[in-house]
Amino acid sequence: MAELDLYDRFRTRAVRLGLPRDEVTGALVEPICLTTTFEQRLPGKPQSQYVYSRPGNPSRVSLERCIADLESASHGLVFSSGLAATAMLMIAYASNSHVACMANLYSGKRRYLTLVGPKHGVAVSFADNMEEELEGVLRDDAKLVWIETPRNPTLSLVDIAAVSTVARRQGALTVVDNTFLSLYIQNPLKFGADLVLYLVTKFINGHSANNVKDVLMGAIAFKSPKLKSELSLLQNAMGSVPSPSDCWLAHRGNKTLYVRARTASETAKKLAVALEECPHVVTVIYPGLISHPQHPVAAKQHRESLGGGMIAFRIKGCGEAAEKFCESSRYFTLAESLSGVKSLCEIPACMTHTAIAEEERQRMGIYQDLIRLSVGLEDAEDLLEDVASTLAKVAEFIASQDNGN
Ligand SMILES: Cc1ncc(COP(=O)(O)O)c(C=O)c1O
Repeated sequence: MAELDLYDRFRTRAVRLGLPRDEVTGALVEPICLTTTFEQRLPGKPQSQYVYSRPGNPSRVSLERCIADLESASHGLVFSSGLAATAMLMIAYASNSHVACMANLYSGKRRYLTLVGPKHGVAVSFADNMEEELEGVLRDDAKLVWIETPRNPTLSLVDIAAVSTVARRQGALTVVDNTFLSLYIQNPLKFGADLVLYLVTKFINGHSANNVKDVLMGAIAFKSPKLKSELSLLQNAMGSVPSPSDCWLAHRGNKTLYVRARTASETAKKLAVALEECPHVVTVIYPGLISHPQHPVAAKQHRESLGGGMIAFRIKGCGEAAEKFCESSRYFTLAESLSGVKSLCEIPACMTHTAIAEEERQRMGIYQDLIRLSVGLEDAEDLLEDVASTLAKVAEFIASQDNGN
């Protein structure tokens, strides 16, 4: 690791971090280590730290080190999906105890917490406003506090320092799912979180689909050596590790994270400004706008106050208009997921958040007319033109319905 410390700037570190150059061939690009097992010199005397690819594989370790370094953590571990990482943390720190989570958590985690967690003794409390309610909901035996910021899909923010201070006082670890902003825009450990979680599938890998295959993966990063020994044991014992080739693809994707996260943020801000000015829009939620109610939290936690690549907005004309927008957009493809090179749109109330009862969804601000955009790397001008013309088309359609045509 010593040689890696030479690289103190994000872009350089992202591009350069990895295994040392292959001494035999001098290959500039790291080889993918596609072996499952490693020859031993003598029984029980392996040639290196590697014995078998479940406990450790060079392509995986290379990615894990890179994520840890860019997060200013000491350790990184990767898993076969974000939910595999989530389940492992729940098993490690919430079994037969209590976890406090924000109410509009990613629905897959909610499914785990409500349908699977209770089978191994996980009790959960949900809070709408973590900063205000955490102290009241956290039980004495609580081991974990779980937040996502920005929240999905309403893009409200959580003050990581405020939440982790309360959690620490009560002896609980704070986990922050930082998927929406990536290693480049926000580093939760700097604000007091104990663990940061990533869906590598999204910004870090970044490509959602390429011609060969793509990657589903989760990662965690943290500082504590105690967590390292506990979690490495579980990673090996549970075996939900990604393949070396997936690790290699994600590591390659991460080398361009800086360019992608910045470009997506810059384009998203232009779109958010245009949407705010559009008469066919009810409201726009984007953390990079001054009008965002928690913009000061973004200014404190996000690099250069960048808002990220996600926008939420309510369209005039109710759910019908939202559906028409998503069906008619040229460049925003109707699909779940986020932070890839292609722009996507979705309606959380009838796609990603259907597991939440309608009344609760409304309380959280997830209305039928709320559209979530994931801004990709297309030209900003194309996306601006597309959104403007799609909104105009939708308004025309709604007007024609109202006139009974
Ligand atoms: C915020 C968030 N957390 C967790 C997950 C689950 O990740 P995975 O699909 O890799 O299991 C997702 C998936 O979209 C997500 O958006």
